[in-house]
Amino acid sequence: MYSDGETLENDCMGCMKCELGKTRTNLVFGVGKKDAEVLFIGEGPGENEDLQGEPFVGRGGKLLDKYLQAIDLDRKKNIYIANMVKCRPPKNRDPKPEEQDECIFWLREQVRIMRPKIIVCLGRISAQRIISPDFKVTKQHGEFFEKNSTLMMGTFHPAALLRNPNQKPAALEDFMALKEKIIEVCERTY
Ligand code: URA
Repeated sequence: MYSDGETLENDCMGCMKCELGKTRTNLVFGVGKKDAEVLFIGEGPGENEDLQGEPFVGRGGKLLDKYLQAIDLDRKKNIYIANMVKCRPPKNRDPKPEEQDECIFWLREQVRIMRPKIIVCLGRISAQRIISPDFKVTKQHGEFFEKNSTLMMGTFHPAALLRNPNQKPAALEDFMALKEKIIEVCERTY
């Protein structure tokens, strides 16, 4: 267990606990306000993220930034964005269960130190790991669940929205609901 985020990040940056460490260009620890009240969790770095060392910097990331902007959130100012796994799986395959099992330690420590009031899971992989194993994004997106006194919500992954633009209005509604929840429970975000 870590007592400060800086040591945690430093140790994580050198992680070689699974195979993904051998093929990464950069480990993607996360981006944003270190003591944010709202934490977004994606699946894992893709090619652009691996090259730049920052989550959601490709096409999906640009779309995510638009949704964030729509509710006055900004990765540089008032939220934090991290991923389930910190290193890019080769050819963007799904992270293997054993890779997720090793890597979740770092995310758990990030959450323990940050103590966010709200966690937003981007897509099925993170929602099923963090909210509930049978989470169905199409059915349960936008619903808030309370777990360990933290509110959690799952919504569409930005890459899924690029593939299925018909889901964009529903995603925007989820972000609107998120804004209301932030106003209700957060003190320092807006
Ligand atoms: N998809 C994710 O889930 N995370 C990223 O950082 C980029 C793409």
